[in-house]
Amino acid sequence: MFVHGARRRPPPGRVAYVDGRYVRHGEAMVHVEDRGLQFADSVYEVITVSRGRLRDVAPHLARLERSLGEIGMRMPIRPSSLTAVLTETARRNRLKEGFVYLQVTRGAASRDHAVPPCIAPTLIVTAKHSDMQAVEARRASGIAVVTTRDTRWARCDIKSTGLLPNVMAKTDARKKGAFEAWFVDAKGFVTEGSSTNAWIVASDGTPITRSLSDNILPGVTRGVLIRTMAAAGLGVTERAFSVGEALSAREAFISSATGGVMPVVRIDGKAVAGGAPGPVAKRMHGLYRELSLKDSNA
Ligand code: PDD
Repeated sequence: MFVHGARRRPPPGRVAYVDGRYVRHGEAMVHVEDRGLQFADSVYEVITVSRGRLRDVAPHLARLERSLGEIGMRMPIRPSSLTAVLTETARRNRLKEGFVYLQVTRGAASRDHAVPPCIAPTLIVTAKHSDMQAVEARRASGIAVVTTRDTRWARCDIKSTGLLPNVMAKTDARKKGAFEAWFVDAKGFVTEGSSTNAWIVASDGTPITRSLSDNILPGVTRGVLIRTMAAAGLGVTERAFSVGEALSAREAFISSATGGVMPVVRIDGKAVAGGAPGPVAKRMHGLYRELSLKDSNA
């Protein structure tokens, strides 16, 4: 049975897209032997809808194409057609503030680890409303994170649906009263959050985020922030930082398409930046919001 969430029922008339058809969300389904289900043989994107418009579509679809390429797949349909499907799914769900979720699986086939030679991909798009009041309340108060050992695979740059370590880390964080978990590598450096990129601010006010490698997801929001800061004549340092450095940093924050820039005020129960959101995170979120809105559907 599909459980929609403990507290909130989906709004009536929710619609999903599956392989060329728009269907009622509760009736949308894939094959029982879909490789996405059996092997997490699939990749995904989460694209924000703001004021009814998709944001940063081009970099999301570029990352999707890259993820697919890394697992030997091609885009299931042309990017322009995919954008039309995303837009139409948002429209049919009367989405003003929220996000569209897009998943491409290898497709359905008789179970075998090796990819069969002839297989058609499965394309799924769903939409979800965001509770913007809750998001903005979190931004105003700042969030807590807890750190945990990074037990994920060595290709976190691929936006794969193989998310069990992320699911476990986030669930554990929530049990501990924190909003996000930060993964920490064997050398004690923060890689990223379970579904966000991690940032701190140096004593001179420069934002720092880990440089891109196989260890982290190249966040679209991270990329937009770096470009936005450069356009405003402000620098960002891309390097690893330790949990100790984060604890004594001027500020800390996370970034993602679903939350923009979200200040971190506690790490493992200890206050960061005096336990309150700081000006750099606030400014960066402001710049991000302005630029992303200007670039909607770009
Ligand atoms: N998560 N790192 C990880 C591991 C992520 O899963 C995400 C996105 C990010 C931020 O990437 P972006 O700025 O492109 O959203 C970083 C999405 C939101 C999710 O899984 O729901």
